[in-house]
Amino acid sequence: MSQELRAVDWTGTGLTLIDQTRLPHRTETVDVRDVDTLVDAIQRLVVRGAPAIGAAGAYGVALALIQGEREGWSEARVREAVARIREARPTAVNLMVCVDRVMTRFTEGLDAVLEEAAAVQREDVDANRAMGGYGADWLLKKAGEDRPLRILTHCNTGALATAGWGTALGVIRELHARGRLEVVYADETRPLLQGSRLTAWELVQEGIPHYVQADAAAAGTVLRGEVDAAIVGADRIAANGDTANKVGTVGVALACAYAGIPFLVAAPTTTVDLSTPTGDGIHIELRGEDEVLEWAGVRTAPAESRGHNPAFDVTPGRLVTGLVTERGVLEVSAGELPGDRLR
Ligand code: MRU
Repeated sequence: MSQELRAVDWTGTGLTLIDQTRLPHRTETVDVRDVDTLVDAIQRLVVRGAPAIGAAGAYGVALALIQGEREGWSEARVREAVARIREARPTAVNLMVCVDRVMTRFTEGLDAVLEEAAAVQREDVDANRAMGGYGADWLLKKAGEDRPLRILTHCNTGALATAGWGTALGVIRELHARGRLEVVYADETRPLLQGSRLTAWELVQEGIPHYVQADAAAAGTVLRGEVDAAIVGADRIAANGDTANKVGTVGVALACAYAGIPFLVAAPTTTVDLSTPTGDGIHIELRGEDEVLEWAGVRTAPAESRGHNPAFDVTPGRLVTGLVTERGVLEVSAGELPGDRLR
């Protein structure tokens, strides 16, 4: 995918989102002109990935102002609509951080709000580019001196999940651009298949060799010595380095720790939540039971079964070898806690 293709785009009058529920077989966009449609798009994962929903939320403030003007809302009603956007999903702190940042310009009016939202979007792309360089440098120094790297990743952290380029997938793209990547193992990511539908699609656009594997295959692939490092994104990182990311991530981290290979988290500093001391304080989104009881809309589990569907899990900070941000790489498990270094 070219860097110019944007998951979240402001058209001048509204938002255009790439519909990530339709990929890879259909590339469709959704035009968002009102707050209800935006909240629904965030909750159904039409737009998803922590930085991408942060950018969508930032422009959502502008949408609320425009809709309020069109429909004669009071200021209180506009603010209430912004609060609904802010709370559309609970785990990724980027959504709240980006909405709050844009709201600091709220009383200045629409132009100021749009200027701030555009800055959120631009800075995310810049952060991703910087992370790509830092992460690739670190990985090549620690694990890639003698041959191209084999990298495992979980969920989708590419251009689709961000304002552009990608976090963990941005590091992978950078390794590929430097000719230092052998292959990517992309976990399919249950239950919504962000890995096999979205990461694989992005890797195909980039011509990056890869395997899609079941999440349940990841630990075995690591323990058999078939990968050199794992790199994932994050939805919220507590001050002690505990990291919430797509469900299944902690299993990858445990396998990497056992095998003694690096487990990296790549995320912009907007994903670090210093007001949350440890992972225990991170609200993990519980999604609808049908997502695990059905397959492609067809019930697969017995009618009597209940579903347990946490969208994320928390990897203890001590299992995180390094945190890649736009400021560089912190070696978390070696004692460089994000809370100490990012204040
Ligand atoms: O439920 P999703 O698809 O929004 O979950 C996304 C993830 O867990 C990503 O790894 C995370 O948001 C980082 S995206 C750069």
